[in-house]
Amino acid sequence: MSISLTSAPNPFLLLHSHIHSSSIPFSPLRRHFYTKPNCLSLTITASSSSSTSPSTTQPNSTPSSTPSSSSSFRSKPTNEINVLVTGCTGYIGKFVVKELCRRGFNVIAVSRDCSGIRGRNSREDTIRELTGATVCFSDVTDASALSGSLDALSLPIDAAVCCLASRTGGIRDSWKIDYEASRNTLAAARRFGAAHFVLLSAICVQKPLLEFQRAKLKFESELGAEAAKDPAFSYSIVRPTAFFKSLGGQVETVREGKPYVMFGDGRLCSCRPISEEDLAAFIADCVVDENKAGKILPVGGPGKSLTPLEQGEMLFRLLDREPRFLKVPIGVMDFAIALLDFLSRVFPVMEDAAEYGRIGRYYATESMLLLDPETGEYSSEKTPSYGTDTLEEFFTRVIREGMAGQELGEQGIL
Ligand SMILES: NC(=O)c1ccc[n+]([C@@H]2O[C@H](COP(=O)([O-])OP(=O)(O)OC[C@H]3O[C@@H](n4cnc5c(N)ncnc54)[C@H](OP(=O)(O)O)[C@@H]3O)[C@@H](O)[C@H]2O)c1
Repeated sequence: MSISLTSAPNPFLLLHSHIHSSSIPFSPLRRHFYTKPNCLSLTITASSSSSTSPSTTQPNSTPSSTPSSSSSFRSKPTNEINVLVTGCTGYIGKFVVKELCRRGFNVIAVSRDCSGIRGRNSREDTIRELTGATVCFSDVTDASALSGSLDALSLPIDAAVCCLASRTGGIRDSWKIDYEASRNTLAAARRFGAAHFVLLSAICVQKPLLEFQRAKLKFESELGAEAAKDPAFSYSIVRPTAFFKSLGGQVETVREGKPYVMFGDGRLCSCRPISEEDLAAFIADCVVDENKAGKILPVGGPGKSLTPLEQGEMLFRLLDREPRFLKVPIGVMDFAIALLDFLSRVFPVMEDAAEYGRIGRYYATESMLLLDPETGEYSSEKTPSYGTDTLEEFFTRVIREGMAGQELGEQGIL
């Protein structure tokens, strides 16, 4: 999901400009499947160059009559493990596909026809972006279409990774994607033999006050129930802290001389951000690491946690400028939410606008850290950390190169 109010993220940046990511060359041989209701077509595209890179390996097509068991798929060589990825065209999904291909897995990436922010990527763009994966064009919101597309591939699936999320964070869309489409992914993956399911969730579901969090939690619990009834099936639920993209929204405005905007004294919340590459590596670890199976895994990046005030100070230091902050009382946001709530009761069409206000407030006041069950407080120390990329390096890169490839979605928060 991509909305741009932030605590860590900046709750003022409701709408972001979107920048095109760089393109990646075609792989030498790839099959593309496209399914519409009552219409199935298969295209085989080949280029003249050949490559032995693992990223061009095609999925193992050895038919499996029975679902594989967790232990049997984990003991196979990586290049014989077929991994289904949904949400593969999102900010994290793209990196997950790249990382899995880099490690030599056979990746079956499910995309819709027009993918990316505002559907601006064509099938060809998507195929280019997901070089190394077998791209299956289908509709994750339609269980039978998804199943039909995978039927057409007739490949067994060993494990699935679901990186789906509503791109708007709207109420209906969250239920349709974070819950229903994730559920369709599970059903399809199970039908084709998946013995393990990795779900990209979010750390904020530990304190669910928003609709997308409730939708995610409902799916998390159904995933747990599926594993409970079949000992040969397992899951890993990954709950990351804030992504870098959610914290970078003010770099360019501050560089242009504007103040850094934050709520209250800038210490209302804190986070331990993680880069897309580090998170993708963690998710890829979850595919075969038995120690990560059957677990809910909160995860943040390296280093200490940072409040918005500290992020702003870091930014001014990197720009070699005197810090200049605009501190906005949280009451301003409460007033806006109360107004939007009232209007949405009169005009139901405004229900999403009110929800975006609540999402913004949530990220302005709640930390993206582990909520310690013993104290009921957010704990930086107890938030597991992974990877090596730091926010300081990220800010330095954005100051130098801009936000290319770090664009937020339609609404701009997550
Ligand atoms: N931002 C943060 O700081 C943060 C922190 C922790 C956790 N998270 C969580 O991380 C997860 C992934 O985030 P992200 O930023 O990678 O998400 P994202 O960039 O918005 O990607 C969403 C993915 O879901 C797909 N999708 C959405 N609606 C669809 C539809 N109607 N039909 C088919 N596919 C659809 C998108 O496909 P298209 O390309 O076709 O639209 C895309 O592949 C989310 O669950 C989010 O809550 C975010």
